[in-house]
Amino acid sequence: MLLAASTQRTIGFVILGIVFVGYVVYLILNSRSARDEVGSEIELAPNRRPYLEDEELEGSKLDKSLLAGLAMLAIIGVGLPLYWLGEPGRHEGLIKDTDRIFADRGGELYVEGSDCQRCHGADGTGGSAPYTLTDAEGNFVATVAWTAPALNTVLSRFSEDEVRHVLNYGRNNVMPAWGTPGGGPLTPQQVDYLIYYLRRIQIPESELRQIVDTGVREGIAEHLGVAADDGAVDEWLGAVDAAVEEARAMALAADQSLAGNAEAIRRAGLELLASGQAPGSELYRSYGEIIFNNGAAGGTYSCARCHTYGWSFDATTDGDDSIDGHAGPILAAYNHGGGFFGPNLTGGSTLDQFETAALHSDFISAGQSIGQTYGRGGSGGNGQMPGFGPRTDDGLDVVYPATLTQDQIDAVVAFERNL
Ligand code: HEC
Ligand code: HEC
Repeated sequence: MLLAASTQRTIGFVILGIVFVGYVVYLILNSRSARDEVGSEIELAPNRRPYLEDEELEGSKLDKSLLAGLAMLAIIGVGLPLYWLGEPGRHEGLIKDTDRIFADRGGELYVEGSDCQRCHGADGTGGSAPYTLTDAEGNFVATVAWTAPALNTVLSRFSEDEVRHVLNYGRNNVMPAWGTPGGGPLTPQQVDYLIYYLRRIQIPESELRQIVDTGVREGIAEHLGVAADDGAVDEWLGAVDAAVEEARAMALAADQSLAGNAEAIRRAGLELLASGQAPGSELYRSYGEIIFNNGAAGGTYSCARCHTYGWSFDATTDGDDSIDGHAGPILAAYNHGGGFFGPNLTGGSTLDQFETAALHSDFISAGQSIGQTYGRGGSGGNGQMPGFGPRTDDGLDVVYPATLTQDQIDAVVAFERNL
């Protein structure tokens, strides 16, 4: 039984043993000295012992005591402020420790507890989820692979509260509801752990830029019918830049008061490109269409995944019938920007919503924040339209890099305003 005892018990028994042995030693020593003293008057009783004279007590003895007091006071006087000076450091260390511990716990949930990695990939690089499509009557249509976005850049697109909303309630029945508010298994604290983990895995700007641009280049190559590393892709991008420059020059020629104000020239040039008044408008729109349909990381950085039905499960591609249970492709063609999770952007609806292309561009850059209205009649939703410009987290004092460059956002705007 002793052997089977827990660690605490073992420690308890050891301490008990030490105390017992110590007690026995004390008893032996005590009885010995007691025996020596029996009947003897070797030492005077304390009250009969002569003490120091007054002169001595008030002289060196007092000085020594006062000096000791002064020394103690000095130690406390210097030590306390020093301790106090170290307080912010200790506080920071505690926060860092907490961050690390919380992110570790989130990482465990990501990998095992909630198995986010099954759909979103290890380290949040993106993946896919099996999904059963049904028709309006609930009949089986097909089994599809629905792309699950990369999460290692998610804090560029959404605030932590917006991410929390997706975690709590899920999305489109394909991303499960994880939080208790949505009927899921995770406590609010566990959802927070996951957010700490997401903070940890966000990739640097250079990597994000490279992934997005690789997708854009592949889109251009497909558009041109060449390989992605073909020089024609760079030429095409060069022509887009030239078109933008030309539109800006036109805007400046039309309104000299813009001179020296690069931002105002950019906005005026965008109006010309979006309305088709600049010579390069059509080219710029194609660029926007390619960005709208960016396939990088399973379409994480596209607009189509939320604004085009079927785009997230490759609905126009004919899959293996024996696997997806469906003969032929699910859709003959996409209705680009026709609306799905995000609203229908076709039929000039964005012209109604945003008076100018520049205001439209501001919206794409900032996204829609929880409860905030936008444009002429944009509802205050749950912040599920991501911001594609840089995002500042005031609370954490961090700036998450932009998903798209200003030029890329403007091109998408020119495309959308002509849908
Ligand atoms: C069964 C597969 C699956 C699992 C497991 C899963 N997700 Fe998702 N998640 C998805 C899919 C699919 C989407 C995209 C939904 C859509 O297209 O509307 C998504 C979307 C998201 C988004 C929105 C990101 C964006 O850019 O739109 C976040 C955040 C997210 N998931 C986090 C998580 C976390 C954290 C976990 C683990 C607790 C998790 N997911 C587990 C499939 C999954
Ligand atoms: C994760 C899903 C998602 C992605 C990705 C997404 N959107 Fe949206 N978008 C939405 C949702 C949801 C709304 C509606 C917001 C609301 O009602 O509060 C919206 C609204 C909009 C609107 C306003 C439409 C209107 O008439 O009110 C525009 C314009 C728009 N998105 C453009 C874009 C562009 C451009 C991109 C890509 C650069 C993009 N969206 C990517 C979800 C998305």
